[in-house]
Amino acid sequence: MSKILIKNIKGLVQAGEEIPNVKKGREMSKLDIIENAFLALENGEVIAYGTMEEWEGILDWRGVEVIDADGCFVLPAFIDSHTHAVFAKTREEEFVDRIHGLTYEEIAAKGGGILNSARKLSEMAEDDLFEAAKKRINKIIQSGTGALEIKSGYGLSLEGELKMLRVIKRLKASMPITIKATFLGAHAYPQEFKENKRGYIELIIHEMLPIIAKENLADYIDVFCERNYFSVEEMEEILLAGKAHGLKPKVHVNQFSILGGVQKAVELGAVSVDHLEEMDAQDIAALIDSHTMPTLLPGCSHFLSIPFGDARQMIQSGLPVALASDYNPGSSPNYDLFTILSLACVKMRMTPEEAINALTIHAAAALELSETHGKIAIGRKSPIVLTHEIPSLAYLAYAFGEQHVQRIFL
Ligand code: NIG
Ligand code: FE
Repeated sequence: MSKILIKNIKGLVQAGEEIPNVKKGREMSKLDIIENAFLALENGEVIAYGTMEEWEGILDWRGVEVIDADGCFVLPAFIDSHTHAVFAKTREEEFVDRIHGLTYEEIAAKGGGILNSARKLSEMAEDDLFEAAKKRINKIIQSGTGALEIKSGYGLSLEGELKMLRVIKRLKASMPITIKATFLGAHAYPQEFKENKRGYIELIIHEMLPIIAKENLADYIDVFCERNYFSVEEMEEILLAGKAHGLKPKVHVNQFSILGGVQKAVELGAVSVDHLEEMDAQDIAALIDSHTMPTLLPGCSHFLSIPFGDARQMIQSGLPVALASDYNPGSSPNYDLFTILSLACVKMRMTPEEAINALTIHAAAALELSETHGKIAIGRKSPIVLTHEIPSLAYLAYAFGEQHVQRIFL
């Protein structure tokens, strides 16, 4: 039995019984904040909150941990709806190659990039992969992340993909936060299928998917729809096969080029479309009135020096926007969502309120976790973050690189 009372909170953020799951367009700039607040948790469950004036004291003080949060903010832990957090090795050598002038796409064309990660993963035992990921995820949690999506996609063979997804399944069972698994067999064509793309698609559809479904190894199916990777038609075929096995689409589209993948993904009922560095009017039109969450990944734009998604245009068009880290060893080696918050504000001109909505309720929607995560409300049990003493909420985005998390309540 653990009881926690957090009192004198400078601002209790995203707390309320009527907060919507999705805020579109101008609504995104609205963020509920209760000033001078308290929050009471029992075994991690929210049992009461409100202003300090509303607080009526506690009848039974036995075993209550009282935290004085004077000068601090409390908010629902951010949610990372797009990561590649299971990988074998980091890829600094490609980073240095890019400093010398090669592009991400040129490195990939030479057999680097995703194929480099796949080679390294094939040499690593499942247990070692699991232990390495576990250490990484513990750090991710300490940084204030309260739910996580993890993709496969560095296997690119039957054994490799199953190895990754089994590791993710073990992580789901052993880590203290909610984890969702996405099957991304269609991340790149492996070297041995370069001249036989049909063969690889058949492998995904007829060999990987049936086992993944039978062993319940994934929640979603993803495809990297991009020039030199998977075409819109190939994506459609793979997503339909995934859907037949009960996996909803959640896809990589429009990172470098506009191929029509956004429209197709929306048509297929994708839960989210991620990247969107390149967008046109038709893409935006397809997303309006859809249930697909547009998700921007500013860590990737920053690290690869490619354009940032046009968050302002999307919001002005009446769309909601979610943000995620895209944490991976090639295009975004940073899992800290406070860094993402700052990049979103500095580089995409999202306001701190918009960006916090993007990392809480909208990220939750992008993982179908709206009923449990992304806001603070009575009866909810999802992780909550206490910041250090800070002058204002905007400071979280302003003081980039600073450690803001004092404690995470799991
Ligand atoms: O989301 N764009 C495709 N996949 C990853 C990068 C993977 C890698 O380079 O290892 C991404 O950016
Ligand atoms: Fe990604």
